Amino acid sequence: MLRRGVTMDLLEQLNALAGDLAEKLGKISSNAELEAARVDFLGRKGRLAELMSHLRELAPQERPLFGQAANAVKQRLTELFEERRAQQEKEKEAAFLAGFDPSLPGRDPRCGSLHPITLAMREVCAVFQNMGYEIAGGPEVETDFNCFEALNMPPEHPARDMQDTFFINNQTANNILLRTHTSSVQVRTMENQSLPIRVVCPGRVFRNEAISARAHCIFHQVEGLYIDKNVSFADLKQSILLFAQEMFGADTKIRMRPSYFPFTEPSAEVDVSCNICKGKGCSICKGTGWLEILGCGMVDPNVLVANGIDPEVYSGFAFGMGIERIAMLKWQVNDLRHYFENDVRFLKEFETVL
Ligand code: PHE
Repeated sequence: MLRRGVTMDLLEQLNALAGDLAEKLGKISSNAELEAARVDFLGRKGRLAELMSHLRELAPQERPLFGQAANAVKQRLTELFEERRAQQEKEKEAAFLAGFDPSLPGRDPRCGSLHPITLAMREVCAVFQNMGYEIAGGPEVETDFNCFEALNMPPEHPARDMQDTFFINNQTANNILLRTHTSSVQVRTMENQSLPIRVVCPGRVFRNEAISARAHCIFHQVEGLYIDKNVSFADLKQSILLFAQEMFGADTKIRMRPSYFPFTEPSAEVDVSCNICKGKGCSICKGTGWLEILGCGMVDPNVLVANGIDPEVYSGFAFGMGIERIAMLKWQVNDLRHYFENDVRFLKEFETVL
């Protein structure tokens, strides 16, 4: 016999739980609310647990009936939660799909591009490669011998002042330095390669100079060396003309002015006709119609001898140019410092220059 009062009351409360929960779940929209309701109904101190704690107060014969009822309610409550949770997942997915358009084009991946100095260096090298030159490379930290002495510049030679040098002091001698030109690679080539030689040497060089719109302490060069039997000044001139026309346009003219380099004799500086004003004179060429692009000359016999080559049999020419300057002239960049600041607005202008 059930003791009316206590048990019936508890059973009613128990049965009411499922109804209360169903009603509550109907109002729930977030996962957090769902979890709060779960704790409220099914948690260790929740409403079901509270009702079940009265089990102890019941007569022993009443306990199984109440226990069964409580288990059934617990199962029902759990089912209600699972249903609501599944429904919530579905709603979430539907909301995602509603805002998702699979036909939209993808986002453009952000893509880097080659630096203008790299572009210019590659283009200069490509022009000479097409004439049969090979690429040669060498270290940026050099010996005094490779950078100066083997190029007819013994210690105390005044021409060393033309290239203010960063020395790397070593305790015993002051003969390790950052190369001031890539002519050092030409020395290495003469030492290691058999004749004839036809190389271009691209690379980074260093000079102790104040940074300005026209100069930097780090810059890039491509230098070239051609040594064979019967190489003449006419070959030099024709090679440089061809290079200038490939680089700056077919109607480009060149002129050579006598100059001095310790490792070439005779030496010349080469100007190209200004490709901006077509030789009429403008601010870039300072009204002259000409722009200086490189130094060159016939390899001095002393240099050939210093590198074990017989000047009675062989002759050759060398040339060297600053890539920053070539790129400035080609693309009308007015300040050399732009190359080193890596402002993407500047770099992006070269994305399509290939
Ligand atoms: N090495 C010279 C410089 O850096 C350029 C040069 C190279 C001139 C070869 C003549 C011949 O200024």
